[in-house]
Amino acid sequence: MAKKTSQPRADIGLIGLAVMGQNLALNIADHGYKISVFNRTTSVTNDFVANNPNTPGGLVGCNTLKAFVASLKKPRKVIILVKAGPAVDAVVDQLIKAGIQKNDIVVDAGNSLWTDTIRREKEYAAKLKFFGSGVSGGEIGARFGPSLMPGGDKTAWKHLEPIWKAISAKVDRRTGKPLDDYAEGKPVKGGVPCTAYVGENGAGHYVKMVHNGIEYADMQVICEAYQLLSQLGGIKPDELSKVFASWNKGDLASYLIEITADILQQRDPVNKRNFIVDKVLDTAGQKGTGKWTAVNALDMGIPANAIAEAVFARCISAIKDERVAASKQLKGPRTKKYTGSKKKLVEMVRDALYCSKVCAYAQGFQLMAEAQKEYGWKLNFGSIASIWRGGCIIRANFLQKITEAFKNNRKLPNLLLDPYFKRKVNAAQANWRNVVTLAANHGVAAPVFMTALAYYDGYRADRLPANLLQAQRDYFGAHTYERIDTPRGKFFHIDWPHPDRPQEKA
Ligand code: 6PG
Repeated sequence: MAKKTSQPRADIGLIGLAVMGQNLALNIADHGYKISVFNRTTSVTNDFVANNPNTPGGLVGCNTLKAFVASLKKPRKVIILVKAGPAVDAVVDQLIKAGIQKNDIVVDAGNSLWTDTIRREKEYAAKLKFFGSGVSGGEIGARFGPSLMPGGDKTAWKHLEPIWKAISAKVDRRTGKPLDDYAEGKPVKGGVPCTAYVGENGAGHYVKMVHNGIEYADMQVICEAYQLLSQLGGIKPDELSKVFASWNKGDLASYLIEITADILQQRDPVNKRNFIVDKVLDTAGQKGTGKWTAVNALDMGIPANAIAEAVFARCISAIKDERVAASKQLKGPRTKKYTGSKKKLVEMVRDALYCSKVCAYAQGFQLMAEAQKEYGWKLNFGSIASIWRGGCIIRANFLQKITEAFKNNRKLPNLLLDPYFKRKVNAAQANWRNVVTLAANHGVAAPVFMTALAYYDGYRADRLPANLLQAQRDYFGAHTYERIDTPRGKFFHIDWPHPDRPQEKA
């Protein structure tokens, strides 16, 4: 354990030593910052400090919050990494009792709901500076370089910035590709940090939530590709692993594609003749950030159907027993196998994945564009895309292109309209349509491929059947309609000849 002195001396403190907390603390210490740590269970703190005696910055283990607060340099900076929800408020209240003061900064680095962060910032304003930072990258990211999405008071950010920049993942200045943060066991110098100030109050947590919504869609489209290639194409996991590995060299290169290639070649530890993927139960869990994104999309009226459908795909996966029962009763088409060229199928599915992924990202950025109006943030989409290039779960070469798209046009109304993505989706759309047709004709659920295509076609339609819908609304509810041949904002109503309504005499 670090030596005791009477002088406050830690640069920063961290509360909550579960794996993410421990790894983030070690990452901070590796970059030369002295960090105080506290966990509710004292033995966790003591063991953690005892097991990590030689970090460059040093760990200060504290067994009371009072000692923890007293150990920090002013203005104090405290990261809390506890379960999102009431636990965050409880810890902040305890910190106040332990001596945290008005100019001190308390950073919630969990996956908190952005509206909670907005509330907390206001609620604690007289007592401390409450700050929200999205952290992505899982355990490994926390340890060796996460993507960090900070939001809150700008003066607080100035104090946090050097630490956030030091500990975040780094990407190559020219290519935007992630750098190996820990070459030869030491953090590398240089590169562009995957963090930048996002905006006021809850902006950081909002952007992290959208990241997770996109993550849901990104994962689901990979799963749909896997399902179609294995079920229709009859491609076995080890062969599929090679397909994903080859995709990882092109436009789709990303962390999620890379881990999919790894997963697919993994044998079952119980019986090495099998692939583990075939033995994993097909029900997906969720902690709620994808659902928050979908609910928020509905609240704001943003058609983020690819993201929402990815959440529903997890929901339908969860009702396994019901599905098994239904599979014995509900018939699908007779055609079960794809008889064409496998090479062509792989190519088509890759294109469907790519196009659906572009739609999911387009929707994520649409959400942020709407949210910034609602909350008065000034989000920089190029910068947000750039901090997702490394460290986070959705990191991908693709994000360099999105960064460029928003840098070329800060007011880009939709990612699909960027010249690069327009060209790419246009070139790939025939294959995308074929895959959706194949899925429908063979009775394979490919919900995000399908809904993303509906989004694409809906978004590019100059006329939708909402004319009829609005007429229906006027028919039964006198909700009025606008006409195509009069200026917008002029509303009309017809006394429709309702079958139940007696016709008025002329
Ligand atoms: C990240 C992840 C991380 C976590 C999600 C998983 O960016 O590091 O998104 O936040 O893995 O909470 O969410 P689900 O349990 O809902 O899949």
